Amino acid sequence: METKPPPPPLPPPQLQRRGKWVVPLLASFFLSSLFISASIFSSSSSFSSSAAASLSRQALLLLSFSQIPTPIGDDPLFVESKLRSRPLSAAAPARPVPRLAYLISGSAGDGASLRRTLRALYHPANQYVLHLDLEASAAERLELTAIVREDPVYTRFRNVRVVSRANLVTYRGPTMVSNTLHAAAILLKEAGDWDWFINLSASDYPLVTQDDLLYTLSSFPRDLNFIEHTSDIGWKEYHRAKPVIIDPGLYSSQKTDVFWVSEKRSVPTAFKLFTGSAWMMLSHQFIEFLLWGWDNLPRTVLMYYANFLSSPEGYFHTVICNAREFRNTTVNHDLHFISWDNPPKQHPHLLTLNDFSRMVSSNAPFARKFGRDDPVLDKIDKELLGRDPDGFVPSAWYDNLKMDTGNNLPFAVRNVTELRPGAGSQRVKALITGLLSADGFEKKHCI
Ligand SMILES: *[C@@H]1O[C@H](CO)[C@@H](O)[C@H](O)[C@H]1NC(C)=O
Ligand SMILES: *[C@@H]1O[C@H](CO)[C@@H](O)[C@H](O)[C@H]1NC(C)=O
Ligand SMILES: *[C@@H]1O[C@H](CO)[C@@H](O)[C@H](O)[C@H]1NC(C)=O
Repeated sequence: METKPPPPPLPPPQLQRRGKWVVPLLASFFLSSLFISASIFSSSSSFSSSAAASLSRQALLLLSFSQIPTPIGDDPLFVESKLRSRPLSAAAPARPVPRLAYLISGSAGDGASLRRTLRALYHPANQYVLHLDLEASAAERLELTAIVREDPVYTRFRNVRVVSRANLVTYRGPTMVSNTLHAAAILLKEAGDWDWFINLSASDYPLVTQDDLLYTLSSFPRDLNFIEHTSDIGWKEYHRAKPVIIDPGLYSSQKTDVFWVSEKRSVPTAFKLFTGSAWMMLSHQFIEFLLWGWDNLPRTVLMYYANFLSSPEGYFHTVICNAREFRNTTVNHDLHFISWDNPPKQHPHLLTLNDFSRMVSSNAPFARKFGRDDPVLDKIDKELLGRDPDGFVPSAWYDNLKMDTGNNLPFAVRNVTELRPGAGSQRVKALITGLLSADGFEKKHCI
């Protein structure tokens, strides 16, 4: 075998000439680091800050990179260790009534259904992010933003945000996952303290009031993750795990469908694949774990799923089930009523009045998929939510608001008695207690 000849040896360092450039080099390095630290720390003032001050700041800057001293023993300080030591039941709720953070997303033409879903889901204790993807026109997004901004209730509680820098979302592509993570990141950064993140679309609708849901959830541990999942990936091994897809939405400004690479890949051995429903309710801790990335698992799995068809049906499931500190928090349900045809088609069938009683008896808090302004939505408004068209769901907070004539009293739900739960709370409670008390619940996480 032929190899390249080795490169000629470097000429010996010219020792006698070193003194000529070492001093200016060191001096310029020192000066430039002084300037850099001065410009970092004195953004508002000019360059007038004295050299002594910037020197001490430089020392501070250097100090902040030194190792954090470990408390006792040699265990490094990791957040996971705190999570691990905390048993599931001991997740004592910090406040009596939990708060929910919702993403409601839609595409071109979904503005009106998105507003309707928001109205039906609205509660001042919650947080909302609305996203109209890049397929929707700028005019439609502006209209949505204007309507939110002009609504006296939304502006008073300031808990509805519209994503202004919208994402291109490719159906079945990883841009769906990045869009969900984007919204969750906005909610983490701007929306304060909340307990669960719920991802909905404009074709979803609630079957219970928020008072029902908040009331019921107040009696359950806040670290539960409602995520329907299985490791039995079946036909998906051949059709999903092995093919490699590219989502042009990751790099192109034009919307096109995902495309397939001719090579196949093998099933991962570094982690186990899980799959399940794309609808879920995830705990605040798990969202932090996904987004902060102090553990590399969420990041590597995300990069793996960048080439996976229908990644929303696998990314979250695979991360949670491969993370020892989270797998025992899973509850195998997506909290949705979804009706599949038999045999299942690619999309669930659109729910109509004929599905109403099955929807109610499923005890699920949400259902999908609804056609725009289908009559069954009016029936849900009237019989399950007690809501007038375009009105808010009747509740204690809304009554208080109507009585509060202009003095803008702050409003916070501090206490479950400030909620007005109805029959829906019994249904959700039956569903969740049924799931948590099912035979072998403790042993059936992530199987
Ligand atoms: C989130 O919502 C969108 C609807 O816009 C959906 O298509 C997606 O699969 C959902 N799930 C996840 C986990 O991102
Ligand atoms: C999770 O649950 C299983 C079964 O009850 C138990 O053996 C295991 O120690 C638990 N893991 C953690 C991290 O709590
Ligand atoms: C909740 O509020 C009611 C009055 O609004 C009060 O009577 C009750 O003691 C409060 N409960 C708790 C647990 O703070």
